[in-house]
Amino acid sequence: MRFRGSLQIKIATMKITMTKERLTRAISLTALGLILSFTVMDRLTGDSLAAPGSQEKTAEQVYKNIKSFTGLPASQLDGVMNYMSASLGVGCSYCHTDSWESDDRAAKNNARRMIEMTRAINKTNYGVEWGVVSCYTCHVGRPFPEATPGARQELWQPPPKPDPKAMAALPTIDEVLEKNIRALGGQASIDGLKTRTSRGTLTVENGIGPAVSVPMEIHQKAPNKMLFTAAYPGGAYTEGFDGSASWIADNRKKEGIAGTEPEGRTLGSEPTLTEFHAYIKLRETYPTMRLLGKEIINGREAFLIGATSKSGSRDKIYIDTETGLLIRKHTLFKTVLGMIPEVVDFSDYREVGGVRLPFKIIWSRPPFTWTRMFTEIKHNVPIDDEKFDKPASKQ
Ligand code: HEC
Ligand code: HEC
Repeated sequence: MRFRGSLQIKIATMKITMTKERLTRAISLTALGLILSFTVMDRLTGDSLAAPGSQEKTAEQVYKNIKSFTGLPASQLDGVMNYMSASLGVGCSYCHTDSWESDDRAAKNNARRMIEMTRAINKTNYGVEWGVVSCYTCHVGRPFPEATPGARQELWQPPPKPDPKAMAALPTIDEVLEKNIRALGGQASIDGLKTRTSRGTLTVENGIGPAVSVPMEIHQKAPNKMLFTAAYPGGAYTEGFDGSASWIADNRKKEGIAGTEPEGRTLGSEPTLTEFHAYIKLRETYPTMRLLGKEIINGREAFLIGATSKSGSRDKIYIDTETGLLIRKHTLFKTVLGMIPEVVDFSDYREVGGVRLPFKIIWSRPPFTWTRMFTEIKHNVPIDDEKFDKPASKQ
């Protein structure tokens, strides 16, 4: 997922050498003129930064007022902004006014000083430009770092070790996955799913203005065709994936803070949408899984599974110990400054034609939250392949 509009969160995963499969992940969704870029599954493989020899524009060629991040591939600016927001625990408007390029907020200029300082610390002490000491190292979620240590004793105790007895009592990973398949409705029912049509509401909180809710509709066809439409008051936002390439048709009237859309963005993808079976055939999505323990997620006890996807991203997935259903996926999104968490929560499972599906999906990457609440999901209504093609006028 991703935001586009004036704000793009692009993920520089679009390497020319990508396999068709990786390319299929390049999709995005918008809101409020902000595009929230979901990242591609291979984001953790290390190849998403600065593709050498690529023709990609630099940040200063795409944006209006770049002084600190000159030379950075433009697609990486969004991730950096997310990382800085998350590190300080603030929304975008902490440093920005209605026009992103404006330097009216003191915090933005302070941030430029901090960027230089952080770069210098890394260079002088570690011989790298970024990545060892970062904003979060000092800020830990607040704009003004604490200079005085806390007095609580636990702060200097070693972290607790996992209880070996509790680990011994865990089921096997196979048992957990079997339970998940049974909970969903059984392998035969899952295999019988060919298309899905979902309707409901998309609510976007972007860390700038109030939350915005719009009607949305999603058409999907196995294994990975997808058409997403959100009906904004100013016009429809549509994006599609035809099985090998993604496209966007943005007919919204731009307004306010979302006014200027920089050219040349790349799209990320969130497999909830593009991969028809992403979260119902876990073994296919994640060839390698290890049961690591139990945690409490949103008040529910869940098995924590360390899962490595086909493309190498290392995720944590959580299966409710009682219901056997997937309730959370946690992954890390890479920026030049460091990693930021990306979390997808699944809830309100209901049965649709023999398979249980989540009617509420919340995706978040600080400071963005993007909630899909479905009112209707239908399976196996025939959908023509052409529906997923890029509209002719946009070619
Ligand atoms: C801690 C302060 C801070 C936060 C929080 C922050 N930014 Fe920035 N932003 C900056 C600075 C500093 C620059 C200028 C970078 C440079 O000079 O290279 C910038 C530049 C930008 C630009 C380029 C504007 C132009 O045309 O020059 C965009 C777009 C942007 N930010 C979007 C965002 C978004 C979206 C968020 C929230 C996710 C965000 N920023 C959060 C400090 C911040
Ligand atoms: C080595 C520690 C350290 C690192 C790394 C660091 N900061 Fe800071 N930052 C501080 C301290 C300390 C202050 C408070 C200074 C003060 O009180 O005047 C501060 C203050 C700030 C402020 C001022 C808050 C305001 O409201 O004006 C901003 C913005 C900021 N930092 C952004 C960043 C960003 C963005 C990064 C990463 C690129 C970063 N900092 C990295 C230590 C750090």
